[in-house]
Amino acid sequence: MALKITVDEDECIGCGECAETAPNTYEVNDDNIAEVKDAAGDEEETIIEAAKACPVEAITVVNDQGEQLAP
Ligand code: F3S
Repeated sequence: MALKITVDEDECIGCGECAETAPNTYEVNDDNIAEVKDAAGDEEETIIEAAKACPVEAITVVNDQGEQLAP
């Protein structure tokens, strides 16, 4: 199952919680905005947990059935 991960760059405040929780999936770039470096970098559970950990709900995770798993 592939996850579709989207970061809302206007919402992200660069807190880094996502990259801390799932470091192989998310990284904070030089502009202090989260980016997805590998949509399958960590366990799906971890990827979802990381998205839910974002304080401003900037990360949306949808599965291949179109179901929204986070936030
Ligand atoms: Fe940005 Fe939220 Fe990650 S504010 S750096 S997307 S935890």
